[in-house]
Amino acid sequence: QSYYETANEIISRYPLEEKSLIPIIQDIQATYRYLPPDLLDYVAKKIGITETKAYSVASFYENFSFEQKGKYVLKICDGTACHVRKSTPVLQYLRQELGLSETKQTTDDLMFTVEVVSCLGACGLAPAMMVNEQVHPKMTPEKAAELLKELRA
Ligand code: FES
Repeated sequence: QSYYETANEIISRYPLEEKSLIPIIQDIQATYRYLPPDLLDYVAKKIGITETKAYSVASFYENFSFEQKGKYVLKICDGTACHVRKSTPVLQYLRQELGLSETKQTTDDLMFTVEVVSCLGACGLAPAMMVNEQVHPKMTPEKAAELLKELRA
């Protein structure tokens, strides 16, 4: 099924009006794990709003990503609680192991994305990391290595 066919199918679930923008692009992001900019333009045309408007709405919500992310999104917390309990070595380990950096956050094979966040709301489990929707408590570089092994298996 092509890109646009999938988009059409999603769009057809909602009335063609401005209010449908958010639910439609949420579904698109859930399908592709990101919001391809050309699909955002396409949706804008279909529901009759300008691309600029659609773009500004989508950028307002942090949850939308215009870039493709890895199958596994690793969010390393570097909030105060996690930082003092040594989140930095975990981050360094993961970036080094996966060949990533502050500016390159996703591996070329689209397996992993490593992001830094400022609090996961799990400060009691510091240093905490999230893999997709799951929280991993009390991380160390060793535990991160184990985890990568599992995810790659
Ligand atoms: Fe890391 Fe809150 S500071 S979970």
